[in-house]
Amino acid sequence: MSALFSPIKLRGLELPNRIMVAPMCQYSSVNGEANDWHFTHINTLALSGAAMFCIEATHVEAIGRITPGCLGLYDDATEAALKPILVSVRKHSKTAVAIQLAHAGRKASSHKPWDGGQQIPVSQGGWQAEGPSAVPHKEGEAPPLALDAPGLARVRDAFVNAARRAERLGIDAIELHSAHGYLLHQFLSPISNKRTDQYGGSLQNRMRYPLEVFDAVRAAFPAEKPVGIKVSATDWVEGGWDLAQTIEYAKELKKRGVDWIDASSGGVSPLQKIPLGPGYQVPFAQAIREAMASPPWRSASSPRRNRRKTSLHRARPTWSRWRAPCSTTRAGAGTPRPNSAARSKRRRNIGARNPRRRRRCSGPRRSARGKGP
Ligand SMILES: Cc1cc2nc3c(=O)[nH]c(=O)nc-3n(C[C@H](O)[C@H](O)[C@H](O)COP(=O)(O)O)c2cc1C
Repeated sequence: MSALFSPIKLRGLELPNRIMVAPMCQYSSVNGEANDWHFTHINTLALSGAAMFCIEATHVEAIGRITPGCLGLYDDATEAALKPILVSVRKHSKTAVAIQLAHAGRKASSHKPWDGGQQIPVSQGGWQAEGPSAVPHKEGEAPPLALDAPGLARVRDAFVNAARRAERLGIDAIELHSAHGYLLHQFLSPISNKRTDQYGGSLQNRMRYPLEVFDAVRAAFPAEKPVGIKVSATDWVEGGWDLAQTIEYAKELKKRGVDWIDASSGGVSPLQKIPLGPGYQVPFAQAIREAMASPPWRSASSPRRNRRKTSLHRARPTWSRWRAPCSTTRAGAGTPRPNSAARSKRRRNIGARNPRRRRRCSGPRRSARGKGP
C-alpha cells in the first residue's frame, strides 16, 4: 500500500489515510459568519474520502480578516454559525475536521479576489490593518499600524480564544496559518518585519512572535488533539524569508510539539517571482522533512522498549510520520517517501532474521489498516 493510503496517528487522532483537503478561502461570509454556502462546501468535501478536511482560513479577529467575506471565529455569533455545519458533518461523515486559524495582518481589508483584491481604504468601508511594522504590502497602499506590546498580547489571546472556540465546536485539529504573507509570516520575513525590538532583526527575534502564538494555541487546545502549521518556505524574493530560515523555524516548532508542517510558499511581496510548475513546492516539503528527521536512536525507558524502537524507528523516524500528511497532500501526493525501498527491504530482512519481531512491527499497521475506508 502506498504511504498516501496508509493510516496515521497524530496524537489521539487516528486517520485512515494521509489526505487532507487544503484550506480554501470562500470569501462568502457575512460578518465573519458561515452560512449555507459553507454548509454545502464543507459537507460536500467531508464526503470526499480524504481523512481530514481543513476549514478555510478562519480569522481570529474581525480586523484580521483578509476581506469582508472571510470567515471568522472571534465571537459567539461566528462560533454559533459554524455549529450546525459541524453537527451535519458528524452525522454524515467520518472525516476529521481541522480548522485553519489565521490573521491577515497588513493584508487585511482587501477586496475579494473576484473584485480585484486591492486594499479597501477606510474611507470606502475598509478598516485600519495592523502588522509587525508600518510597511504596506504594496507601494501606494495605506500602511498598517505597527503592533505594540498590548496589541501583540491582544492578537495572541485572540488566537487562543479561537482555539478554545474550536475545541467547543468539537474540531479535531488546528492548523496555524503562518504562510502566504499573513500576520505570522509577516513577522518572519525581513521584507515585512522592520522592528527594532525583540520581535525584529535577527532570525531568532523574527520567529519569536509566531512561536509565542504557537505555544499559546498549543497550550489552549487539548493535548490529545494535533496542532499543525502552514509555512511559506520562501518569499521568492532576494533577501527575504527562505528555505534555510524555514528549516530553523521548523526545528523550533518541532521542539514545541508541532504535529505537521504544511509547506507552501510566497505571498509576502508583490515582487515575488514564482517558477510555477507541477510539483514546484515538493522540494520544500522534502527538504524540511529531511532536516527534521529524528536521530536514528531515541531514549527509551527499558532495554526491551529500546530493542523495539531500534527496529521501528531507525528506519522510520517519528518526524517523518508526523510530516507525512503535509508531504503527501500539500507537496507531492503519492510521491514515494525517500528511502521507502530501503525501509521495506530492511523490514523484510528483520522479519527474515526474527519472525516474532516482524509480527510485532507489522501489528499496528495491520490493525490501523483495518479501520480504513
Ligand atoms: C480557492 C483557493 C482558496 C485558498 N484558500 C486558502 C486558505 O484559506 N488558506 C491557505 O493556507 N491556503 C489557501 N489556498 C492555497 C491552497 O491551500 C494551497 O496552498 C495552494 O493551492 C498551493 O497548493 P498546490 O501547490 O497544491 O496548489 C487556497 C487556494 C485556492 C485555490
